[in-house]
Amino acid sequence: AASTRYEAENSPAVCTGTIDSDWAGYSGSGFCNGTNAVGAYAQFTVNAPASGTATLTVRFANGTTTARPADVTVNGSAATSASFESTSTWESWTTKTLTVPVSSGSNTIRISPTSSAGLPNIDYLAV
Ligand code: GCU
Repeated sequence: AASTRYEAENSPAVCTGTIDSDWAGYSGSGFCNGTNAVGAYAQFTVNAPASGTATLTVRFANGTTTARPADVTVNGSAATSASFESTSTWESWTTKTLTVPVSSGSNTIRISPTSSAGLPNIDYLAV
């Protein structure tokens, strides 16, 4: 089935940080520049047609030379972790897929950095 794109800047998504548009190449009207701290997050509310395993596609940019690790929770429970590698520049966007368990219906998916460097810039989550 075609995927649904959930833009980080569109409510009910939450970005603890700022919605920025200063680096080109994002989709929609901006991206989440999360606060550079453990405990910040980008959160998405996604619909799943059935319970099971979902493949999430996260589009991001990391203009530093250092990967940024994060934990991913679904409905408050630890689901997986991810390391958002350098994309060389803040205008170079790439995608990463994450496999997580979901429930039928609405799911709250939160991506939280586990280092003080914070998250990469996050453009969207597609499911
Ligand atoms: C720079 C960049 C931001 C990015 C930040 C970071 O300030 O302009 O878009 O979010 O670095 O390191 O997270």
